[in-house]
Amino acid sequence: MDRMRVLLLGGGGREHALAWKMSQSPKLDQLFIAPGNGGTSELGTNVPIKETDFEAIKELILREGIHLVVVGPEAPLVAGIRDFMEADESLKDVKVLGSGKAGAELEGSKAFAKRFMEKVDIPTARYAEFGAEELDQAKAFLDEMKPPYVLKADGLAAGKGVLILEDRAEAESSLEDFLIKGKFGEASERVVIEEYLHGIELSVFVLTDGNNYVILPEAKDYKRIGEGDTGLNTGGMGSISPVPFADATFMQRVEDRIVKPTIQGLKNEAIPYNGFVFIGLMNVDGDPYVIEYNVRMGDPETETVMRRIDGDLLEALWLTADNKTAEVSLGVSDDHSACVMLVSGGYPEGYEKGKLMTIESVEDEQVVMFHAGTKRDEEGLKTSGGRVLAISANASNREEALNKAYSVVKKVDFERMNYRSDIGFDL
Ligand code: AMP
Ligand code: GLY
Repeated sequence: MDRMRVLLLGGGGREHALAWKMSQSPKLDQLFIAPGNGGTSELGTNVPIKETDFEAIKELILREGIHLVVVGPEAPLVAGIRDFMEADESLKDVKVLGSGKAGAELEGSKAFAKRFMEKVDIPTARYAEFGAEELDQAKAFLDEMKPPYVLKADGLAAGKGVLILEDRAEAESSLEDFLIKGKFGEASERVVIEEYLHGIELSVFVLTDGNNYVILPEAKDYKRIGEGDTGLNTGGMGSISPVPFADATFMQRVEDRIVKPTIQGLKNEAIPYNGFVFIGLMNVDGDPYVIEYNVRMGDPETETVMRRIDGDLLEALWLTADNKTAEVSLGVSDDHSACVMLVSGGYPEGYEKGKLMTIESVEDEQVVMFHAGTKRDEEGLKTSGGRVLAISANASNREEALNKAYSVVKKVDFERMNYRSDIGFDL
């Protein structure tokens, strides 16, 4: 396909970064983003529809003659956008970059992901799963674990379904909250209890058609709101790529022990999969263990990963959607990339939206500002979310990339702007 009309679903920093990278492709004819944000509107046409409104998406695809749908977030995948499109005669020729409902269970159900890993022998924390009628067995299983206890609601719980608890009594009452009191409704009708892994986390990204794969640059994100990794969990306050401990030896282990069996598992289970696999890993003394799968790119990891990919991302996505990942050729730049997230005061708890933003222009090709929660109106650019702007900067080493990103932070202002000043502190 030489001139593609593309629809990107989503509206965060990840989607702005994907849109930015796809826009560099000579094969792009026109880009639509639904719903998009104040940054993506500079690269294509924002369409104000929800990413899970399948009927509206269908109408848009047909009206605009879309060839490829790239799905950013997990919600439309878990809800079955791909299955919806495949079942509709009028959408049969439109390609989708994203897994079907079956594959999305890797993210949508922790228990499914654990069983999947067990079957193909992928290193992961020892675990057991329990339903509501098994509260006593679940409590008994805690005896086999050492604290801290790791409890996970089976389904999607907006990032709040994982508890790590030192106290045994608290672990038991949380099990009751999940299984009996329905804390997260259907999502916590089952729980996974697993062993706590000690190590450092990183995120590895794979693009696959379920047969062949390409490993993208790895990244590390900083999830807590406070400096020194303290305070509440957020969607992510910053990221860096590459990750220093992910050297050739470590990445070879990741490929052999995790990526290859993951693809094999998809084949064994006959799960059609054309999309990203985000593997959350723990480095335990040099050995990688899977903490979780996601069926999308990470945010804010994408804001550094896209900065280090050399080559035509759009073509790679098209080929992958067309079962031709074997033909994908993407390079990885030697640059280091760092991203600092500017957030609304109060986030990740309550915060205000609609704050007018000022951004001084930056004359540096190595700096890109990815919009996460912004919106344009007659008065100008305004905040529209908790995570507002991701400042990403490249340089020949990590320290310089971080310094550059932080120097640009000073050029942005909005009421109650907040950010972490220690991204990369632990490396
Ligand atoms: P998840 O949603 O499964 O990624 O869990 C959220 C976070 O909890 C992860 O990013 C880890 O920081 C932490 N976590 C989850 N599982 C474990 C584990 N088995 N051992 C240690 N930390 C964990
Ligand atoms: N940054 C972690 C995530 O996207 O889930």
